Amino acid sequence: MSAHLALQAPFFEGAGEQEEARRAFARDLVAALDARPRRISPKYFYDAAGSRLFDRICTLPEYYPTRTEAGILRERAGEIARHIGPGAEIVEFGAGSLHKVRWLLDALQAPRGYLPIDISGEHLAEAARQLREERPGLSVHPVVADYTQPFALPQPAPGARRVGFFPGSTLGNFDEAEAFSFLSRAAQLLRGGGLLLGVDLVKDPAVLHAAYNDSQGVTAAFNRNLLVRANTELGCDFDIDGFAHAAFYNAPLQRIEMHLQSLRAQTVHLGGVAWRFEEGETLHTENSHKFSVEGLRALALRAGFGIGPVWTDADRLFSVHWLPAAQ
Ligand code: TRP
Repeated sequence: MSAHLALQAPFFEGAGEQEEARRAFARDLVAALDARPRRISPKYFYDAAGSRLFDRICTLPEYYPTRTEAGILRERAGEIARHIGPGAEIVEFGAGSLHKVRWLLDALQAPRGYLPIDISGEHLAEAARQLREERPGLSVHPVVADYTQPFALPQPAPGARRVGFFPGSTLGNFDEAEAFSFLSRAAQLLRGGGLLLGVDLVKDPAVLHAAYNDSQGVTAAFNRNLLVRANTELGCDFDIDGFAHAAFYNAPLQRIEMHLQSLRAQTVHLGGVAWRFEEGETLHTENSHKFSVEGLRALALRAGFGIGPVWTDADRLFSVHWLPAAQ
């Protein structure tokens, strides 16, 4: 029986969004296990546990992007807010724990509303509840969606300008075609407003290597969370300790690659079907592309944005771009 038939068994029957999400995970994991090289979308890192691990990554001493981006947003908040203008409705893609938007909301003049979009519904609901409590005046509309796919947003408030916020160099986790299609859709969605985009810059590979191989092993646990989810949600039998976290800089492709590498020959099961991993074979879980300012601007232009100012830190580790979207 083929793997694809096995997955139509009653095991995967049921209704509701959670069930839909589980099916999509199963489908994509089967496709990943069938493929050579094996590769799966990083969106499957983010259940509630994965979102919490990700928050810890952001505070690691080796992981410079989050605090560098925060520094830029804090120091240049006034200038950034002037470009965004008053009364903006902020749409955040992959909002996670809603930590980063606070720096932006503090700086903005009379923001009209905030629409955080995230794939991890449970985590998002809790974060939105906290934000509402802190800021009773702000209208917060969480949207549970996979923003790499087409999705609907509620109507904007009358006369509101929509401004996208996409921090954390998440754009770098897409391949170039995905980044282009995401930016093209964002340019349409944000017409008359713009996008505030944070992307990591090309730099010394040693600095990059350390950022994705932290000494506390948090990034490794985050990477392995994908296997933990496969075991608990799909009934797989991955030996979690049988896979190493492997992250390295691929210089020609300007990206950190993250893999789960099988430490020995082993077999795993999904939906009653067996898949073999050779020793050293990997499941490629994520890329984190690094950009030059010029490269990012060229991509944004092609996708339909205009070019606005860019803000960087003194060491040019990270960049924040204002990309206006024409009416
Ligand atoms: N987008 C950020 C980056 O690529 C944050 C991130 C996403 C990340 N997935 C990660 C960081 C996995 C470390 C490991 O850097």
